[in-house]
Amino acid sequence: MQAVLVLCALICARAEATTYQNVRSGMTDYETIVVGMGAAGTTAAATLAQAGVRVLALEAMDRVGGRVHTVPFGDGVVEMGAEWIHGTSPSRTYDLAIKNCVKLVEQDISIEVFNSDGTKANSSLINELMNQAMGAVNEQLDVNEPLGKFLTRKVMEHLKEHYPHVLEDRDFVTEFLNLLDLVIGNYEASNSWNDVTTKSQYQELDGHQHVSWGTNGYNTLFDILLNRYNNGSGLPSLTLKLNSEVTNILYSDDPKRRVSVTTAEGSVYTAENVIVTVSLGVLKARHKQLFDPKLPEPKQTAIDKLSIGVMDKIVFFFERPWWPIIEPAFFGFLWKGEDKRELPDEDYWLFRVFAASTPKGCRNALTLWTSGDVGKMVETMPVDVLRNKLMGLIKRFLGKGVEVPDPIAMTRSRWFNNPYTRGSYTYDNLFTPQYPTARADLGAPITDSAGNPRVLFAGEATDAHHFSTVHGATDTGHREATRLLEWRLKSHL
Ligand SMILES: Cc1cc2nc3c(=O)[nH]c(=O)nc-3n(C[C@H](O)[C@H](O)[C@H](O)COP(=O)(O)OP(=O)(O)OC[C@H]3O[C@@H](n4cnc5c(N)ncnc54)[C@H](O)[C@@H]3O)c2cc1C
Ligand SMILES: *[C@@H]1O[C@H](CO)[C@@H](O)[C@H](O)[C@H]1NC(C)=O
Ligand SMILES: *[C@@H]1O[C@H](CO)[C@@H](O)[C@H](O)[C@H]1NC(C)=O
Repeated sequence: MQAVLVLCALICARAEATTYQNVRSGMTDYETIVVGMGAAGTTAAATLAQAGVRVLALEAMDRVGGRVHTVPFGDGVVEMGAEWIHGTSPSRTYDLAIKNCVKLVEQDISIEVFNSDGTKANSSLINELMNQAMGAVNEQLDVNEPLGKFLTRKVMEHLKEHYPHVLEDRDFVTEFLNLLDLVIGNYEASNSWNDVTTKSQYQELDGHQHVSWGTNGYNTLFDILLNRYNNGSGLPSLTLKLNSEVTNILYSDDPKRRVSVTTAEGSVYTAENVIVTVSLGVLKARHKQLFDPKLPEPKQTAIDKLSIGVMDKIVFFFERPWWPIIEPAFFGFLWKGEDKRELPDEDYWLFRVFAASTPKGCRNALTLWTSGDVGKMVETMPVDVLRNKLMGLIKRFLGKGVEVPDPIAMTRSRWFNNPYTRGSYTYDNLFTPQYPTARADLGAPITDSAGNPRVLFAGEATDAHHFSTVHGATDTGHREATRLLEWRLKSHL
């Protein structure tokens, strides 16, 4: 059951909107430069600007939000990046929505599964097996084992104990395990569930795990942070420059030297310090060119050893919602081996599009989900091929006895090919347990010889327990802003 939360508490005043002083006029004398305006960078920039720090924010794309990307459609919105607030307590992201009286929606994401011949699969059994498996994922395990191997064992044990006759249906068991691999791929952005370790440090927050921003859109978070929501007056001590790709960050251990940041069009900005929030994918691709001098060894090791994967969405818009049932959110696709074998080899990627979901922000849209190498491939596939093949998939699974109309539009995410993200989010791979401090190393500030923080790092990848999420990214931005505010208190007295 979906509950509509009208979360307007007593304190409905535009909470953080106090007054700001522009300490000095002529805002080119920046104290801190923030590179990247995703959840981490925007939180850091806003936290500092609210405290009166003169901040310059440089964002490569033509929008703020980064891996949060809300796209309007009709009278609603769809989310091409983050879609839900995963857990509500303790969550800075959730709290900001509540304080600002944003109407959130708790979404039930249980899955209604269809077979490749259009019949309904045994969804109650499948949900039971999935819930049992997902529960096992969140156990804090001490053994470093491929997650797929571990979950396969768990599923087989559960079936043996409760439904031994199901084990005789070899095709069902095989295809269910394939489906589960894809569900994990969607959570972890992994190519295979066997690339993910059981020994992850990830921790779930308490509370509902799938809270949607509904028709408001996740980008509302950025309006709130930047004090633009409800006609807010902005943040006077923050200067935001979009379309400003940073190409070089020059720093020194000499306490008298400022940090100097160069952009692609050749502008050079200096400040006391810089907070870098670009994704792990961007760091992997260009840290050697980006930083001068090169990053310290522990950071390079962390960048090398941590993984960022791919998860992409393809959204179809229709004149009206035509699907068999509106609840629940996900229609799962369970293949039958014989149907798979009938498809031409080049269509293998269709087996890795695991479900269609109904987004809470747009009633006439269906989102298809894919991950890993197939996600990368789908990002660059010719539009008409993609549309036709995926509509074929939708008709095969959901079209039995239903007239499936042609879509009126389609859009897809390209998180891997986007040079400013180079992937969707990070996961703990099989090597991660050998580098237990990798995320902390990545997030550690680089200081000068007097101990002043000069180059600071935030972003989802730097949070050991809440990586791969918006709330985690937000926390890291707050962490680095707080580090600078505390340092300023000590050093500027
Ligand atoms: C498809 C998808 C679905 C997701 N679903 C969820 C979800 O449901 N719930 C959830 O909590 N999380 C979800 N996530 C993860 C979440 O979106 C991210 O963890 C979070 O948004 C990352 O924020 P960030 O600030 O660390 O990085 P980013 O959002 O990547 O911000 C970094 C910014 O730096 C900019 N940048 C990069 N290079 C440069 C440069 N050289 N110069 C200047 N700027 C640069 C980028 O353009 C970007 O704006 C999802 C992600 C994806 C991709
Ligand atoms: C689903 O599978 C379980 C276990 O085999 C069985 O008990 C149940 O009756 C099945 N439900 C349907 C609707 O087939
Ligand atoms: C914001 O300002 C616009 C134009 O001044 C006005 O039309 C609108 O009603 C205002 N919105 C809110 C929420 O105050």
